[in-house]
Amino acid sequence: MRRYHAPGRVNLIGEHTDYNAGFVMPIAIAMGCDIRVSPSTRSVLHLTSAQFPGEMTFPLDVIPTMRRTGAWVDYILGVAREIHALGIELKPMKLHVDASVPTGSGLSSSAALEVSSALALLDGHELPKLELARLCQRAERNFVGMPCGIMDQYASVHGEEHKAILLDCRSITHQLVPIPDGAEIIVANTMVKHELGSSAYRQRVQECHEALSHFPGKEALRDVTLGDLERTASQIPEIPLARARHVILEDLRVQNFLEAAGRGDLHQMGKLMVESHRSLQHDYEVSCEELDFMVDTALTLDGVYGSRMTGGGFGGCTVSLVAPEAVERFEHGLSARYHDRYNLAPAIYRCTPSAGARRVA
Ligand code: GLA
Repeated sequence: MRRYHAPGRVNLIGEHTDYNAGFVMPIAIAMGCDIRVSPSTRSVLHLTSAQFPGEMTFPLDVIPTMRRTGAWVDYILGVAREIHALGIELKPMKLHVDASVPTGSGLSSSAALEVSSALALLDGHELPKLELARLCQRAERNFVGMPCGIMDQYASVHGEEHKAILLDCRSITHQLVPIPDGAEIIVANTMVKHELGSSAYRQRVQECHEALSHFPGKEALRDVTLGDLERTASQIPEIPLARARHVILEDLRVQNFLEAAGRGDLHQMGKLMVESHRSLQHDYEVSCEELDFMVDTALTLDGVYGSRMTGGGFGGCTVSLVAPEAVERFEHGLSARYHDRYNLAPAIYRCTPSAGARRVA
């Protein structure tokens, strides 16, 4: 029996920039998805999960023409279809899935499931890392129907201990960024996920296209400068203008964050995280009341350099940079205040940058 693991991710900065060919800076985290592979005697893919009851069996020859089911298995079926499309034969097998990354938390439980199932289904057939990440992204786009960027799958595949990943989503290459000493990465889960999420994501992708159409000759919002935006602003309707402003400034924030990390300037890194949050809240409009409350509360607590929502938005988690000696008080303070306001106990995780997807047994 073999076992594969793929991590979830926390994005430190660079939100909703990946599908605009911009920059993102995620870390892979220790939580993720584990898949145990065992042989099957029948020509089927047999799927079970520690989180969801029941078992499902799919004949291998049916998978390439299947429609999505609406259940968690879609991520695996989508990956299986993409593997088949590459001309790689699917093997009869039983997969048992065990995920430690909470679903719907904005920590990329989907990418962790896709990448771990790709490793399991390939079961020894080596693909270059970038191809693996892209295959999983195609599974989500083509089969699950979510027009996502490359960040989550890329981070899950390429994660490194002690390092963040600065990913250029145009060249799809990365550089590793050491996180300065003197701060811990604390993730707090609002424990809410608003339904709006996937339709709003689609809408944001659309609004970015609309904004881009005002800049003939530019391939992506990544290519539009602040000067271009200012010159053209009066011709762009309010909403696409605000979306473009977020994307353009967020790309600049990622560059500034990188520089600040290089100098070990935690105050500047934190300030940029807060600016990112405000922009996601007001210009990109993907935050929600609970996320805003959590960020605003974090910023009143001692030892906090910065805090922002992380991931697609509409619920899920915040990420904060907190001085190590203040972490315990931060956790208590944030939990108590959030619980008082929403009667929900937020799960809080201390995250360290972790290794990417791999065979573990
Ligand atoms: C989701 C998508 C990513 C990215 C983020 C927002 O996690 O899967 O590709 O667009 O939202 O930054």
